Amino acid sequence: MNIFRTKNIAELIKGTEQHALKKSLGAMDLVLLGIGCIIGTGIFVLTGVAAAKYAGPGIMLSFVLSGLACAFAALAYAELAAMVPVAGSAYTFAYASLGEFVAFIVGWALVCEYTVGASAVAAGWSGYVVGLLKSAGIVLPTAWTAVPADGGILNLPAIIIVIFLTYLLVLGTKESAALNKVLVFVKLGCVAIFLLLATPHVNPMNWEPFLPFGLGGVATGAAIVFFAYIGFDAVSTAAEECKNPNKDIPIGIVGSLVVCTVLYIAVAAVLTGVVPYTSLNNGEPVAFALRTIGLNFGSAIVGLGAICGITTVLLVMMYGQTRVFLAMARDGMIPQTLVKVHPKYGTPHTITIVTGVVVCILSGFLPINVIAELCNMGTLLAFCIVSVGVFVLRKRQPDIHRPFRCPYVWLVAPLAVLFCGYLIANLPAETFMFFGIWVAIGILVYFTYSRHNSTLAQSNSDGGSASK
Ligand code: ALA
Repeated sequence: MNIFRTKNIAELIKGTEQHALKKSLGAMDLVLLGIGCIIGTGIFVLTGVAAAKYAGPGIMLSFVLSGLACAFAALAYAELAAMVPVAGSAYTFAYASLGEFVAFIVGWALVCEYTVGASAVAAGWSGYVVGLLKSAGIVLPTAWTAVPADGGILNLPAIIIVIFLTYLLVLGTKESAALNKVLVFVKLGCVAIFLLLATPHVNPMNWEPFLPFGLGGVATGAAIVFFAYIGFDAVSTAAEECKNPNKDIPIGIVGSLVVCTVLYIAVAAVLTGVVPYTSLNNGEPVAFALRTIGLNFGSAIVGLGAICGITTVLLVMMYGQTRVFLAMARDGMIPQTLVKVHPKYGTPHTITIVTGVVVCILSGFLPINVIAELCNMGTLLAFCIVSVGVFVLRKRQPDIHRPFRCPYVWLVAPLAVLFCGYLIANLPAETFMFFGIWVAIGILVYFTYSRHNSTLAQSNSDGGSASK
């Protein structure tokens, strides 16, 4: 059995017909889906921590560095997502380009991105809500709002929001996308309010020294704030539910990334311009900065906006994970029974609930920093593999129809690998250890289950037509 067998692209598209999802999303839905997943815990929480501890005002450059890594990877994603409009994102692209084993590992790494990432986001959501309630005079007991490592029993608010969103996702994409749209506008409005209120208070003296921790600090900051960009690729996981994927997917991915990059650099500049970067190491730096300059009402509004923003991220990340699982189960990589689509709602309800339960457990019991770093590692690896994949497919299948072509692929794809690899190298050693353990478990699952049960393996033994 060849672990490097690849899926034929035509077969990939055909294979989805059996479990067809409703095609209800347009280009604007996708841009909003992307923004819904991108702007969240990263900008509202991690920017302050990374500025205070690693990059100083140079955090603006960290966002440029991370943004470049994502822009290169986004172009690769856009080409593959438009060409193979199938749920499953990087996993599916790897299956078509680099073979089954690499695809499985990518799918496994995507669990780190979506499920582990969603858990970090749920934990961040909980922190913001607890903070806002506290400033309104309602103090929740630490035992039920903190994980064991932080002196609590479990993070109950995180679990409650995850259960609620799981319920929405089971009800269906359209309902979830409608809620997402409203919340995205609320959070864009809040970012705009922050910029409008805070910009007149910028004191350029706060940008001195610009690089207190040198360029090394900028790189470490970039590896952390990379979390803020995660999400644009979730657009590609919705490819199967688009009315016109060929045009809409590239617009969705690149459009949402551009909007967020501009906003992030602006927020980072203003945030470090209104207060000294050393004061930003707290759970709600954006609201804190407004309070510091005496704008308490604006601070409360922005705090509420942050909660809305983080909610949409959580929704889209959980949505993305269910679609990756759907693609993997459909290929026999994980048990097929998981892919059943609900007869009334048209959603993969079993997978959605399984994902929800895992996110509850992780966010309820594990510290946010550990899960966020693990999420970055899984995502960066997936980005690297997708970027190699786009290059490989150009060589192996040059004639296949590409509705969107990554410009200067010979330059952009290697740059994506280089930038993402550089960010990986700047992650802490313990992240490598946790990720190594996760991948080792994945390899075990692949060789004991998926390799024998994959639909390609089955069709090969029936004399099927998998390409090598
Ligand atoms: N980009 C997402 C966030 O910032 C994961 O929360």
